[in-house]
Parts: sequence; structure tokens; C-alpha cells
Amino acid sequence: MLRRLHHEQPESFAFTEANRAWAEAQITKYPEGRQASAVIPLLWRAQEQEGWLSRPAIEHVAEMLDMAYIRALEVASFYFMFQLHPVGSVAHIQICGTTSCMICGAEDLVGVCREKIAPNAHEVSADGKFSWEEVECLGACANAPMAQIGKDYYEDLTAERLGEMLDEMAAGKVPVPGPQNGRYASEPAAGLTSLKEFDSGQTKYNASVQLATDLNDTIKRIDGTEVPLLAPWREKGANHRPADPAVKVKEPPKQEAAKDQPVDKTPPKATADDTGVTKAEAQAKEKGKPESARAPEDKPGKADEPAVKSKSKPKAKTKAAPAADTGEGKKPELLSEAREGGPDDLKHIKGVGPKLEQALHDMGVFHFDQIAAWSEEEVAWADQNLVGFKGRVSRDDWVSQAKILADGGSTEFSDRAKKGDVY
Ligand code: FES
Repeated sequence: MLRRLHHEQPESFAFTEANRAWAEAQITKYPEGRQASAVIPLLWRAQEQEGWLSRPAIEHVAEMLDMAYIRALEVASFYFMFQLHPVGSVAHIQICGTTSCMICGAEDLVGVCREKIAPNAHEVSADGKFSWEEVECLGACANAPMAQIGKDYYEDLTAERLGEMLDEMAAGKVPVPGPQNGRYASEPAAGLTSLKEFDSGQTKYNASVQLATDLNDTIKRIDGTEVPLLAPWREKGANHRPADPAVKVKEPPKQEAAKDQPVDKTPPKATADDTGVTKAEAQAKEKGKPESARAPEDKPGKADEPAVKSKSKPKAKTKAAPAADTGEGKKPELLSEAREGGPDDLKHIKGVGPKLEQALHDMGVFHFDQIAAWSEEEVAWADQNLVGFKGRVSRDDWVSQAKILADGGSTEFSDRAKKGDVY
């Protein structure tokens, strides 16, 4: 049941062009500042593309959503639907091992997997084509024993039939999903006892099998070209965010750019702790009291971005690149270091999280009054030169917020930030 990153990781990950367009469209579903809500669909699309979630893929999604890596890792490692280990290039077989399936022969199916794929779950077969695991009830108990393969259910299985199916898939065929013993759906094996007037012969397959057959993407990797980009909420005017994602959505690093950046090739260590500071640890540390003594809502102060930092986060990625003067606007007065007394907590400005605060420090901005004094031209310069955070200053109207905070006042957001009540 341990959910750890695989010991071998690829150096980088990038969505295909079509998948990236799809991902950016998903982000527009969510209200401003809540783009992190798209983490599950984006992680899922990354897995559909690659078959499994590598550390670079998780980090890539986190960067697209402006989340700390540890937050995306928490989601990926919590849900068992996310594969954290490489899977077979053809198919990953998920055998249901819960009660109904177990008493109907799931152990025999697991035996076939051990024999034909690999002795242990989550191991890739010698030819690299298959992997398998045992999973909990998949809700098709009336057709036990069953397995999920790719996106579809294969039901009423026998060891013999599963073996045949593996051979068919290895040969490039995709067996028709659904009951494998001739049943139409989940009617009694001995025939209908009620609703006898229903003639299943009118349709060859039941509805879910028909759809699976029509889509024909059971075990296919999804590169985004299969179906047109669907974002109907945009046409209906229901999008919470502007249609131009370049304005609001953080641009993920491009593949080429990633090559130029130093890559942390150190494989993740085996223990969960080494994937980063856990939320509980970070909170307990920050509060200086034991985890057990803290209420769940007793969170450390943080702004739009989570304050918990991941130890495993490569430095080059966590620290924003220094400002590159684009020449647009007018460069404001910057400081080489904070004044006596230390920097203000810039995270009390809505829209500034730990990463952005670091970027501001790197740029030479440490105090509310610096931002409060920015003219329109200086805002334009800062908007352009906060690499990776373009447009944020005007988007969240930092100047107005900073003026209030510099005068010793507070905003609704800063009040929540002081209480540690923001995400
Ligand atoms: S027990 Fe196997 S699907 Fe429910």
C-alpha cells in the first residue's frame, strides 16, 4: 500500500500540444485563484499520455497550476488511480480482488498475471508490454470476477480467457470489453427471469460496451488529437477566467527550455519523508508545537500559494528566475536588501505566495511601501519582468493593496492570511 515515487525517473515531461491546450481549457473552468482545483484532471491527462505519473509530470502540472510541488504530489500519492510506477507499454491490468470477485475466481486471475506478466504487482513484464495490480471493488460485482484494463471493464472472466486476452493484446488486438462469457450485461447466467420482452438481440452490445467499442481507446495513450478540444463553458460565457489563458494561466516550461535548465537527476529516495516535508510536519514545525496538539484548521500563515515547501523541489525550479529587464515600462526603485527590521510579509498581498515573494526579493522588492509607490509605468515593468508571473501585479492590483498595508491597515485577504486561513 506504500505510495512512493519510482526510483527511476525521466528527466522531463511535457504535454503534447493538444493535451496542453486541453489542460489550459480545463483550468478556465475554475474561478480566479482556484486554478489548483484542476489538479486531478491535469494529473489524469498526464497519466493518460504517459501511462503513469513521473515526478517531472507531477511537477509540470504543479507549475501549470502555480502550486507547490508537494501539493500536487500529495494528490498523486493519495489516489490509487494514479500510477506512480511505470506500467506496461500495451496495458496495465487491474484485477479486482474484493469479495465477489475473490469468491468467483480472482485469485486464478492473479495467478495468470503472475505467470504471464510478472511475479509481483507493479512490475513490468520482461517484454515491457504489461503490468498488473490487484485493486479494490470496481463496482461490477454482478459480473465477477472482473478486471479493468485501460479504461474498460472485462467481466465474467476465467483464467483461460484472461490468458487469451493478454495474448490478443500482445498481438496488437483489443478484445471487446464487457462480459466474456456470452452474457449481454448482468442478467442471470441461466437467462432472463423478468422483463423477458426485452430483446437484447436488437443491439449487439450493451450500452457501455457499445460506447467502449465506438471510442476504441481502451488501452490507447491519449495525445489529445483523438477528439476536438471541448470547452463548451467558454462558448456559453460561463468561464470564470478570461478566454486568453496566456493572461491568467501560468505558462508551463516548454520542453526546449527544460533542456537548458539544470535538472535534478537525483532519483527520489525511497522514504515518503524524502519526497518532501509533509503538511503535518511543516505545520507542527512552524507552530512549534506537536502535531497532535493542533486542530485541523490550525494552519500556518500562507497566501494563494501553499507555504509548505518541498525538500525535493529542485532549487532551479522553486526559485524564480531573476528579473530580465524587457525594457517595457519604467524600472522602479529597487533595493539590494531589506531595510533594517527585515522585509514585510509580502504574502499578505492577495496573489503573492511564497514563490512570488521570493521572486520579488530577488528583484529587489521587500516592502509594502515600495509597491505602493509604483506608477502605472512601473507596474507595467514589474508585470513584464517577474519571470514566470507576468501580469500578476496589475491582475491582483497589488498597488492598492500595498497602499493599505503600508499605512498599517489591513485587507480582507491580509486578515485571513494573518489567521493562516488562506490557500
Ligand atoms: S468485488 Fe469485484 S467488482 Fe465488486
